[in-house]
Amino acid sequence: MQLFFRISSAFFFCFCASVYAQTPLANTAIASAHPLATAAGKSILEQGGNAFDAAIAVAATLAVVEPYSSGLGGGGFFLLHRARDGKQVMIDARERAPLKLTSNSYRNATGQLLPLASLEGPLAAGIPGIPAGLAHLAKRYGQLPLSRSLAPAIHLAQQGFPADARYRALVQSRLTLLQKQAEAAAQFLHHQAVPEVDTLVVQTNLAKTLRTLAQKGASGFYRGAVAKEMVAAVNNGGGLWQTADLARYRIVERKPIVFDYRGMRIVSAAPPSAGGLTLAEALHILARYDLNPLKPAHRMHLVAEALRRAYHDRARYMGDPDFVRMPIQRLMSTTYANMRAASIDPANATPSANLAAAPEVTQGNHTTHFSIVDRQGNRVAATLSINTFFGSGFVAGNTGVLLNNEMDDFAVAEHGMNAYSLVHSEPNRIAPGKRPLSSMSPTFVEDRRGTLILGAPGGSRIISMVLLAILDYQAQTKVDLQALVNAPRYHHQYLPDRLEVEPDSFPSEVLDELQLTGHVIRVNERKWGNMQAVWIERSSGKAFAASDPRGMGSGLAWY
Ligand code: GLY
Repeated sequence: MQLFFRISSAFFFCFCASVYAQTPLANTAIASAHPLATAAGKSILEQGGNAFDAAIAVAATLAVVEPYSSGLGGGGFFLLHRARDGKQVMIDARERAPLKLTSNSYRNATGQLLPLASLEGPLAAGIPGIPAGLAHLAKRYGQLPLSRSLAPAIHLAQQGFPADARYRALVQSRLTLLQKQAEAAAQFLHHQAVPEVDTLVVQTNLAKTLRTLAQKGASGFYRGAVAKEMVAAVNNGGGLWQTADLARYRIVERKPIVFDYRGMRIVSAAPPSAGGLTLAEALHILARYDLNPLKPAHRMHLVAEALRRAYHDRARYMGDPDFVRMPIQRLMSTTYANMRAASIDPANATPSANLAAAPEVTQGNHTTHFSIVDRQGNRVAATLSINTFFGSGFVAGNTGVLLNNEMDDFAVAEHGMNAYSLVHSEPNRIAPGKRPLSSMSPTFVEDRRGTLILGAPGGSRIISMVLLAILDYQAQTKVDLQALVNAPRYHHQYLPDRLEVEPDSFPSEVLDELQLTGHVIRVNERKWGNMQAVWIERSSGKAFAASDPRGMGSGLAWY
């Protein structure tokens, strides 16, 4: 049975690229974390733009209306499928370490670690990649000028958007940080306090920077007055940027990680994201088991053990491919997966301490994801971030650009953990110009039934969320996209050695059974993730969208 599916899937894959190249879909779909961003993408598609133009509009609008998750001062990965020729590529717009920063920048004169330095203020910020990513998308893949696709974001930044409950809650969570800097307070607060619901959040400085980007392209951000202002503000605030850091920033087009799992072709993020490789290793381990008939606790045990091993290798081997050599072929091979699976005890949890030691480093719901398909069959899965909510909390002078705190995704401390309690090691050590290892995992899943476009925010839990959705998709006899997105979540990341579960999501008998097998269960205070998914049904060409009920996003599919 499995062989049959593998053959048919390979056949389908080759066949589908050409079908998609020629056959328009019955409709179009977008799912994003904010209704205003979804509406912006829809308007660009209706003006004759393609999915790539819509991606620019959605990303830039999210930068305005979800300033806590992503923005011009951040980075991310855009996974693209171009219908015309079937090209699949990942635009790596991840932040890069400023040339003058070293791990010593996060220590005081006596060598002690300054725990907040990689999280708050300008020292925490990597050189942003989103503006370059948007300009590249427009130039190489879009049909509309940047000025058109950025117009909805410029309008919302200039006129303001109404503060919603989510905005208020997230401002509240970072209030002290935002109060510390006049520019951040002026942009996001109302008289130093959380704005009331429906107060307009107006960002005129950001609107001006967006206009400059629209007029001049990437050089409007990385060179000239905007660049100068950002460098001056960062250095005045205690950071270490130079104009060369910005002038030298480049996006990289990378080959996605592609592998098969039980009749499905998975296309996901390449390093410097750990997403694709960690998914590949965990799913190759799980391919040994028929998970669907198993009792829930047994299935969860096996998934947790596969994740434990794959995250262990994330910590040991992964980093920026422009700086480190990674055993990619080995990590993706079924031989290696079988070897790692051999130590899985079906009845007992393996203590993480029994796996070979990996030096330490960590990774919420920060970050954002959106999925788009247009009528030509062009697809975008994009996961974008400024790292933790409101990033570094530092707005770069009068540019309105809120800077990320992505430097914390490096192995800043030797045996420390980052904001997500992830363990990192040498391959993810800071170096000038290097990109920090990420968990962002924009993904396509292609099989005989159709194509799923998905991803989620959530730091280190992104990979396990995407994995669970892939397993559920595989198990569904009739695809129910909303059910995939709603499904209860659990997570294991090797260290800390615990199985995290969403609250009110699993029967106590299941958790008791898992505890008996030796898992340390941690029921989280809150549910996590904000998955945004699109599915294209192959037989009808219809597209569907689903947005995670844990967030306030919107999924739209229309003719
Ligand atoms: N900053 C979260 C990630 O890239 O994984």
